[in-house]
Amino acid sequence: MRMVDLIEKKRDGEALTKEEIEWMVAGYTNDEIPDYQMAALSMAIYFQNMTPKERAELTIAMANSGDTIDLSGIDGIKVDKHSTGGVGDKTTIALAPLVASLGVPVAKMSGRGLGHTGGTIDKLEAIPNFTCEIDTEQFLSLVNENKLAVVGQTGNLTPADKKLYGLRDVTGTVNALGLIASSIMSKKIASGADAIVLDVKTGSGAFMNSLEDAKELAKAMVDIGNDIGRKTVAIISDMNQPLGRTVGNALEIQEAIDVVKGGGPEDVRELCLTLGSQMVYLAEKANSVEEARSMLKEAMASGAAAKTLKTFIAAQNGDDSVVDDPKKLPQATYTHEIKANETGYVKVIAANKVGVAAMQLGAGRATKEDTIDLAVGLVMNKKIGDYVEAGESLVTLHANQEVVDDVVEVVMSAYEFSKETIDKPTLIYKQM
Ligand code: URA
Repeated sequence: MRMVDLIEKKRDGEALTKEEIEWMVAGYTNDEIPDYQMAALSMAIYFQNMTPKERAELTIAMANSGDTIDLSGIDGIKVDKHSTGGVGDKTTIALAPLVASLGVPVAKMSGRGLGHTGGTIDKLEAIPNFTCEIDTEQFLSLVNENKLAVVGQTGNLTPADKKLYGLRDVTGTVNALGLIASSIMSKKIASGADAIVLDVKTGSGAFMNSLEDAKELAKAMVDIGNDIGRKTVAIISDMNQPLGRTVGNALEIQEAIDVVKGGGPEDVRELCLTLGSQMVYLAEKANSVEEARSMLKEAMASGAAAKTLKTFIAAQNGDDSVVDDPKKLPQATYTHEIKANETGYVKVIAANKVGVAAMQLGAGRATKEDTIDLAVGLVMNKKIGDYVEAGESLVTLHANQEVVDDVVEVVMSAYEFSKETIDKPTLIYKQM
């Protein structure tokens, strides 16, 4: 086979065969196919798209390009959840103990973050002494014992995707729908999920700005999952403003703890109940999604979910007393109130700008080598639809620096106001 023939075939709108896709993924992973040819193919895919069959085959080929995780030693149906990402998204941390408390095994492999805040592992490391550095044997036995463990990504998982994603990032081909769908699903398959719940974000702070694009991406991923025998459902949820009230690692842990106990901001709690009930249903622990939802509410109210969270934290060496006393999480030295300079209703909070502000405070990494400050971040006191009077606090900054003028400027530019009342944005747009 010659790569140039595959590029021309795709350029002319034809579908690639399974053999061609497998050959191309193997050749690219082994450095036999150069970046310039892979870039040309990615651009051809961007314009010509891929058929559902091509996407499923690309997903499997990428999932098999490196190590795969065998979770067969864990009893029960392993359901994984994936979010396409957004500012203030701490759902995994609340969801995992919630569903685990109902007997759903959660074997979570997570990464560190690049961008506005840390990834799930960074956030969990805000809990004093908590570690995700456990070996595979320990990981599997903790899930069997406690129904929940979180481990850092180890080994050589989906190297084809890693290489291709890096290339797409610098060749204008990240937003090729089929490539996004295959990229995300290949990682879920390689990490051993039996079933998958996807949270596809839409809005100004999401990858997919429009609802139409988000629906198309969700459908592409659901089709891939179901085509290759993994039950997959997707929820499309709002990312027109940060999720919940906090952005920043320790602050987000605190909010997740509140949600596990049945409190916290309504949007985070509702999203957790929506995603969690799908997970519980797919894991066959409830006869319907509705039944799963009431079981989750009961786990919040009875303290069962908080108990699972404590057991999980203690089992991974963390200080579980943070669940009762969140003040034991890292605290920033200074707080600064950012006050509204006009009276009205909040119309816009540009999530991406809030993300930039969190980065400026030190909550996220600009490069892989950066260290992050776990204590710093933002608490959003006013969200879209809220009434605010001039002089009232919009945002509280938690900072380890005395001067925050540049951060204040960015946060102020994220907010827009209206004299007319503004409806709160819809949280859940669609389930697929
Ligand atoms: N996230 C991924 O993992 N892959 C993509 O292609 C886009 C977002």
